[in-house]
Amino acid sequence: MDLQQLNATISTIEAEAGEKIRAAGAVDALRSIETAVLGKTGSLGSLIKTIGRYPPEQRGQVGQAINAAKGRIKGLIDDRLAELRQADAETEARAAAAFDPTLPGRRPPLGAVHPVTAVQWEIERIFERLGFTVEAGPEMESEYNNFEALNIPATHPARDMQDTFWLTSGMVLRTHTSPVQHRSMIKFGAPLRVIVPGRCFRYETIDASHENTFHQVEGLVIDHDISLGNLIAMAKTLLNEVMHRDVKIRVRPGYFPFVEPGIEIDMNCEICNGAGCATCKRSGWIEILPAGMVHPNVLRAGSIDPEEYTGFAFGLGLTRLAMMKYGIRDIRVLNSGDLRAIVSPERLAALGT
Ligand code: FA5
Repeated sequence: MDLQQLNATISTIEAEAGEKIRAAGAVDALRSIETAVLGKTGSLGSLIKTIGRYPPEQRGQVGQAINAAKGRIKGLIDDRLAELRQADAETEARAAAAFDPTLPGRRPPLGAVHPVTAVQWEIERIFERLGFTVEAGPEMESEYNNFEALNIPATHPARDMQDTFWLTSGMVLRTHTSPVQHRSMIKFGAPLRVIVPGRCFRYETIDASHENTFHQVEGLVIDHDISLGNLIAMAKTLLNEVMHRDVKIRVRPGYFPFVEPGIEIDMNCEICNGAGCATCKRSGWIEILPAGMVHPNVLRAGSIDPEEYTGFAFGLGLTRLAMMKYGIRDIRVLNSGDLRAIVSPERLAALGT
């Protein structure tokens, strides 16, 4: 191209570069334009290589024209750079002015105790007030403590009532908290008032109200002149206190080899208010507190004289009581690890299936 054409090309490049530079909204974009125009292979930068094609007397002019355009474009880039930096600084200053370091921090969400634990603690407080000791026992139990000491010999059909996880050692995963009745009698003798919250295990089909792992609270009172009336009064007090209102209960006969007579204390189903639902198996009642007068054989096994002492025992279904208290329709939620269940028991009602 001749000198005239070169000048026209330079003007076009300069005009286009000027437009792009003015439109650039960030430092990075400006640097890209700089490379694309002024770089060695850029639209203007690469023209330098063409100098040799001009007659020697024109080369000075060509070089000057290219360099002058380079200088002007560089000037535009620097000006725009300064503008952008200024704008960035202003944005930062505005953000800094808007930040109020005196505002209180954001509180991270806190966990809460598991609903079953919450009810367990509440029950422990109630019974401690009534002069009971809170005991614990092992989850892996001997066959003797889980069955024999409770008047359930190997041949007794009552063993079929509780589907048991047997360990290869001959031990069992305790099917109820009742073995701690025997342990407590041996440990403390009579008179005696204990409760035993704890985890129990049964090899059962799981549904809305049955788990293979659940909690009970055993209760045992042994003293002179203890009667079934004491037991029913205590059960009613317990349920009323946990539910914070007057709970409707019903008492019916029940059979457990370690009590005589045996009773079942059921509470009105809180989920359906007695109308019948999946949780209460359409009965309107929840089996919550089987109980009875301690069988003389159980007292004898615990080295307590049944001629001198009588007692009552109960096995509260703690997991089911927690379900009633918090309106949990499905027992499976409680062992599911669903954090909504752990963090906010009050919101559990929504989680049942
Ligand atoms: C017993 O376990 C007796 N040891 C209770 C007892 C103690 C009777 C002292 C007399 C004297 P039962 O199998 O019914 O009884 O269980 C007691 C309670 O535990 C039930 O009422 C129920 O609320 C709860 N329960 C039983 N099986 C399950 C299960 N699979 N899932 C959840 N809760 C259960």
